[in-house]
Amino acid sequence: MAAKSDHIDESKEDHIRLANVVKGVHAGLRRKYKESGDFVRTWQDHCQDEEVLSEYADAMHHLAVDHWTKRPDTRIDWCRDTLLEYFLHGGLVKVLEKDARRSALERQTVQQSPNAKGDSQANECAACLLKNKNCKALGAGDQVNANGSHMWNKQYDTVQLPLEGKIRLLDVGSCFNPFLEFEEFLPVGIDICPAKPSVFHCDFLHLETTETLQLAWDTLDTYMSNLRSPIEKLPKDSFHVVVFSLLLEYFPAPYQRWLCCQKARKLLMKNGLLVIITPDSHPQHRNAPMIKSWRTAIESMGFARWRYVKQDHLHCMAFRKVPQPRDRDRHLVGDATPDMLYIPQDFSDDAANNGSDVAPTYTSTDEEFFRQTVHELPRAFTDDESE
Ligand SMILES: C[S@@+](CC[C@H](N)C(=O)[O-])C[C@H]1O[C@@H](n2cnc3c(N)ncnc32)[C@H](O)[C@@H]1O
Repeated sequence: MAAKSDHIDESKEDHIRLANVVKGVHAGLRRKYKESGDFVRTWQDHCQDEEVLSEYADAMHHLAVDHWTKRPDTRIDWCRDTLLEYFLHGGLVKVLEKDARRSALERQTVQQSPNAKGDSQANECAACLLKNKNCKALGAGDQVNANGSHMWNKQYDTVQLPLEGKIRLLDVGSCFNPFLEFEEFLPVGIDICPAKPSVFHCDFLHLETTETLQLAWDTLDTYMSNLRSPIEKLPKDSFHVVVFSLLLEYFPAPYQRWLCCQKARKLLMKNGLLVIITPDSHPQHRNAPMIKSWRTAIESMGFARWRYVKQDHLHCMAFRKVPQPRDRDRHLVGDATPDMLYIPQDFSDDAANNGSDVAPTYTSTDEEFFRQTVHELPRAFTDDESE
């Protein structure tokens, strides 16, 4: 009995020690950024500190595989289930049907308007992806618009259904390549300090994006399977999925988080998904304003939130790459700023770590937002495409 409790104590101590290494690196970066006000310099210095990077990589790897896997549903399981539902089990099809219905309605409205000048652009995309077979919104004569153009119907930059081959997944800040074990994925894991040889060395902040490769899916798969470390460039419109699992809070500056989301959009195919996992052990309402703010910022770049789930210790989000903010979207690019991608620790590490009630971003307006929405859960709170 004593031996068993000794083992539990040891395991707990190990967990705390590893978590402190990880949290210490994040906090150190934030401190240096606050002192210098220069996130470029702070980041450069950090990336050259190999000792700190490899201690972090080792700690993170052990935390993930020796401690966190003891929980029944890990963040990696959530990502996998969500991606399979979206790409293989009808999630994307439903979204496209919804798009097509909306487009048909918009077209009808335009045609009925006294100033109508023929086909609107609104009707020319989503149905093409379904090859019109299942489209409930458009009739046979409506398949091609007046000038015959189909903005979304280019195989090489758009997710095609049914999906051929594996789901090409870019795992940014992969550390130990957790998606490698799943046969449905072709994962490309990148990290500033890989913990496993299968992860490529790459700083996502400095990664260049090159022109879209106009290749068939199997040639693109071969291209991705032949990548070599370090990765300095990747082609635009080439991934079905980009994953940021516990990545964004690593960065000390909101602007770095913003750059990452913008780059993810470039690398994703149209209708591809950006999956973001970020830690938070508080109840859902506590940081609801932050999640709302992230959503506004990310959607302003040309995404639509498809799914959001609050787990005990995590926020899990999936955003679909859409052509550009649609009319119905409340926030256009000009409204959003990088500061909207804040985390509580940007304001005070003490508040975040000690679980204190000091939360400078939680204003009375936010409180009101929560009070209004909580009564209407789940629909009004989520308002996601998958609902
Ligand atoms: C908290 S760990 C998360 C590891 C893994 N994604 C998971 O969910 O367990 C964050 C990882 O992001 C990596 N990272 C941070 N900034 C990066 C960047 N600019 N480019 C690539 N990787 C980065 C770190 O080295 C670290 O391995």
